[in-house]
Amino acid sequence: MKVAIIGAGYVGLTTGACLADLGHQVHVHDVDGQRISRLCQGDLPIYEPGLRELVNRTRARGSLSFAGDLTLALADRDLVFLCVGTPSLAGGSVDLSQVQAAARSIAPELGADTVVVIKSTVEAGTARAIATLIAKVRGGRPIAVASNPEFLREGSAISDFLTADRIVVGVDTKWAAARLATLYAPLVQRGIAYVETSTVDAELTKCAANAFLALKIGFINEVADLCEAAGGDVLSVARAVGLDRRIGSECLRPGPGFGGSCFPKDIRSFAASGRRLGAPQGLIETLIDRNEHRKRQLAQRVLDHLGGDVARKTVAVLGLAFKADTDDMREAAALTLIPLLQAAGVKVKAHDPQAMERARGLLPDVIWCSSPYDAAEGADATVLLTEWAVYRELDLSRLARRMRGKGLLDFRNLVDPVAADRSGLTYVGLGRPGFSSHAAWRGERGGQAARQSLAASPV
Ligand code: NAD
Ligand code: UGA
Repeated sequence: MKVAIIGAGYVGLTTGACLADLGHQVHVHDVDGQRISRLCQGDLPIYEPGLRELVNRTRARGSLSFAGDLTLALADRDLVFLCVGTPSLAGGSVDLSQVQAAARSIAPELGADTVVVIKSTVEAGTARAIATLIAKVRGGRPIAVASNPEFLREGSAISDFLTADRIVVGVDTKWAAARLATLYAPLVQRGIAYVETSTVDAELTKCAANAFLALKIGFINEVADLCEAAGGDVLSVARAVGLDRRIGSECLRPGPGFGGSCFPKDIRSFAASGRRLGAPQGLIETLIDRNEHRKRQLAQRVLDHLGGDVARKTVAVLGLAFKADTDDMREAAALTLIPLLQAAGVKVKAHDPQAMERARGLLPDVIWCSSPYDAAEGADATVLLTEWAVYRELDLSRLARRMRGKGLLDFRNLVDPVAADRSGLTYVGLGRPGFSSHAAWRGERGGQAARQSLAASPV
């Protein structure tokens, strides 16, 4: 089928390249001319594993192209996907201005039977409102507008798209439904579940799915605090809890508070919809506060660890992106934690394998380092903030030798506490015991004290 994608960001580029890979003819357009010029030169404006190769392959085959000219991008298209940004407004509801602007700009160019598909994450009722807007711009001539929310994650976007758990398509007209079913037939033939529903239900499904996943993360962060207080190990608890198929093991890794371009803004919009429609979402309202609290709580934990006159201390922060395998800094924990450390007078050195270019403009007065070991040089404590694989494989002895202090605050539970101790580091994880308890559990050297304290515990 002939497809146009409006918006060449994480979702637009992934959708375009994957649909082209499935055999469709795809034109990708963006209002940002520079972005399109870079793409035409084979230069990807974002980091997403495997995307460059997929884009190159589909372009070489002639199934994917980039068009700065909107008329060219829309010519003779069966489907036009809107993949533009939907940030938060001040009160938490979705800022639809990019979706509305894109809809207005494409409206005059659309063929009578082109289906417009909203892939951006929007509040319930948006597809119907956009259908009205487009019909108005077209002097009353209607257009079918569908909702096809996207569930991919950054860092695994291509496999999430091509091996999705489900495809959700919201349609209010039968013929538009048939067109989307044809588009996705190659994926459905591979066994992916296909849910056809109304546009409102599709929009609500996306918002509810993100809200629920975010709740799981918020929950396990608080369970981690409880594990710390009770002397438990959240990794063991989360694994055992997650084996219940009704719960599932995903989104049960404690961390420094979830970030990214989606969970934080999508839960704000979910809560705002609830308030607007008179169906308050109390759980989510609380989650919003608790997640912000989590980021501040961990900054305080670093300061407490440093102790004394923190103004003379240096902290190495390893990992800035909101998660591994992306250069996306939107609502990353680093954006809360680092300024709070700096406000207390701490000198911050930082490293990230992909996100430093983006982080530079957002985090003033940070000393940028070309390797984790350079960041650790002279540091009183090292904070692991993003779960990059390279940090999992750190040479801990080398890290310890470069540091002035010995604290390793592992806010992603990446490192083995016993290995950290053997390297001369003082390990602080999230919701898990430090070295001595681990050693006790494994019956290893140094576990005696912990064995005694476990024996003295009340149960
Ligand atoms: P992004 O900011 O990376 O990309 C959006 C692109 O749209 C930008 O390149 C921008 O220049 C372009 N754009 C804005 N207005 C335009 C217009 N009028 N015409 C043409 N192009 C225009 O955003 P993203 O991360 O790809 O997210 C897009 C949407 O998808 C959002 O609603 C988001 O919530 C949703 N979503 C994102 C993810 C994700 O992992 N990033 C996953 C699922 C859903
Ligand atoms: C998330 C959802 O997982 C996608 O399904 C959805 O399509 C997307 O939002 C969206 O709507 O845009 P993404 O933000 O790319 O995807 O990344 P996740 O892997 O879900 O992580 C989000 C945040 O939660 C990160 O800060 C991550 O570190 C944190 N997280 C995730 C945890 O702290 N613990 C976990 O167990 C999982």
